[in-house]
Amino acid sequence: KYSDLAITPPMGWNSWNTFETHIDEELVKETADIMVSSGMKDAGYTYIVLDDGWMTMERDNNGDLVPDPKKFPNGIKAVIDYVHSKGLKFGLYNCAGTETCAGYPGTRGYEYQDARFYARLEIDFLKYDWCNTEGITAKEAYSTMSKALKKAGRPIVFSLCEWGDNQPWNWGEPIGNLWRISGDIYPCYDCEFKHDTWSSWGFFKIAEMHKNIRQFSGPDHWNDFDMMEVGNGMTFEEDKSHFALWCMLASPLIAGNDFRKMTKETLTILTNKELIAINQDALGIQGFKYADENGLSIWFKPLQNGNWAVSFFNKNDKEINVNFDWMKHNVVDEVNHLKTSFENFQYDIRDIWQHKDLKSTKTPFKSTLASHDVVTLILKRR
Ligand code: GLA
Repeated sequence: KYSDLAITPPMGWNSWNTFETHIDEELVKETADIMVSSGMKDAGYTYIVLDDGWMTMERDNNGDLVPDPKKFPNGIKAVIDYVHSKGLKFGLYNCAGTETCAGYPGTRGYEYQDARFYARLEIDFLKYDWCNTEGITAKEAYSTMSKALKKAGRPIVFSLCEWGDNQPWNWGEPIGNLWRISGDIYPCYDCEFKHDTWSSWGFFKIAEMHKNIRQFSGPDHWNDFDMMEVGNGMTFEEDKSHFALWCMLASPLIAGNDFRKMTKETLTILTNKELIAINQDALGIQGFKYADENGLSIWFKPLQNGNWAVSFFNKNDKEINVNFDWMKHNVVDEVNHLKTSFENFQYDIRDIWQHKDLKSTKTPFKSTLASHDVVTLILKRR
């Protein structure tokens, strides 16, 4: 494997979803401050990652990248030191091509020089994109940067972002710690996949499309379902579902909202420690869809100690009743040779949105689920 810096899915914040290239020193510092004061850091969020737009349009005379002095008047190192002083980690973005997606200098041909530059700056995370890459192959390009980072000597989480086009799950494990498996997600129901109802909502589409790559995800090499859109305009229920799905998928949890405008509801979702524990479970197994009937989508995720997480998502535009008789179900994770045996074992149930213990799996689980809402349970084996 590439490194042991991501034994559980990385957690943090990335500037792109809200700010695109409108980033600066103040934003980073305020985000770092709030990461600590809001309890996000305590909940496990560590990385502050600046995405595209942190550089000037030209390299300097030595061929080095130039952090934009207008955005970072005290130099980017001062900002990085500030983030580190808060006990957090810092990440930057670049691209395998000649230019980044937003047109800034890309890394192609400068891999070793840029890696040394990042090591000098003492960054901890590099997101590496895939625009403007005509004539090069993904596996080779990412492998070159991976070697360059190793050679530069600084432990840096390497995040591959080629949108799944070249099936990075087949070759990414020795090269990086996480790889995007799709194009960008958006906080709307119809913009990514052009469907007109929430029931075919892009997030679920992406998750379902990739059910056959779950065996490639695990400690230090994760399928990355993209930075989150929690707090970016969806309803409370939709945000809950989005976050729960990312936790069930063992996806990296990289927030993409403006912390300075974060509502209590958004913070409650992002810092739900019991849900985060599902995401960060030591087995590192990506959950899977068990059933999808009448818009009720049921996902299971095996956890350590023989426990399971289960989420019921209501994809309907109306409220529904859930009535799930455990005894009638056999949930099998074929990839990992794990199965529930509700007849042989009893599981205690905990509702991790209500933070409440419920009855055991001896009796059916009943609940009323609002439109687009989710209920997530942990089944603890007795
Ligand atoms: C691509 C990536 C995004 C973001 C932008 C930056 O679209 O997928 O996550 O990094 O580039 O330009």
